[in-house]
Amino acid sequence: MKKDKRNPKKSSKGVSRRGFLAGVGTAVVSSAVIGTGAQSAEAQILRVSRQEELQDIAITVNGVKYQVSVEPRWTLAEVLRDHLGLTGTKIGCNAGECGACTVLLDGKNVYSCSQLAVWVDGKSVTTVEGLAQSQSELHPLQQAFWEAHGLQCGFCTPGILMTLVPFLEENPDPTEAEIREAISGNLCRCTGYQHIVEAVKIAAEKMRD
Ligand code: FES
Ligand code: FES
Repeated sequence: MKKDKRNPKKSSKGVSRRGFLAGVGTAVVSSAVIGTGAQSAEAQILRVSRQEELQDIAITVNGVKYQVSVEPRWTLAEVLRDHLGLTGTKIGCNAGECGACTVLLDGKNVYSCSQLAVWVDGKSVTTVEGLAQSQSELHPLQQAFWEAHGLQCGFCTPGILMTLVPFLEENPDPTEAEIREAISGNLCRCTGYQHIVEAVKIAAEKMRD
């Protein structure tokens, strides 16, 4: 039998496996380059059109009226922190899980990371900065947290305070179980729950007087 002297690594069309793979590689890189170019062109179009997408909203925050131009995707938490400078409201998970971003919206506690700014047009917001009556006089809740060492790093504290304001207004003499239930939507990474519960009991007493 005659021995085939052709390169056994070449296909019938004369392309080696190595050459074939190298060719595929080139094709992938090419399409990636083309893709990058197309994406950046698209991104520029988005950036240009974004300015026209701004929407004006009117909100009252801690008694002060604001007119803000917002993108439809911005959350209330972002507007408060990044555009109004009210950084007392914290962003922990940014996904409606930890409660760090809790504020009052028309008197009810909400996760501000889960509210689009355009949804709060015409509404009234209270943040932790709006709790104290003055620089020298803390809200009874803040005073109680101070007295009972109800915070460690303090990251969760603004959200917990804003959860507790309407809770204590509705339930001025809560049981410990009710307090724990009330703050179940607020995570404390320092796990200082015992002191937090003690602080709420003191605050309830102060607010009843
Ligand atoms: S930051 Fe809003 S719930 Fe965690
Ligand atoms: S005091 Fe640190 S997260 Fe609660």
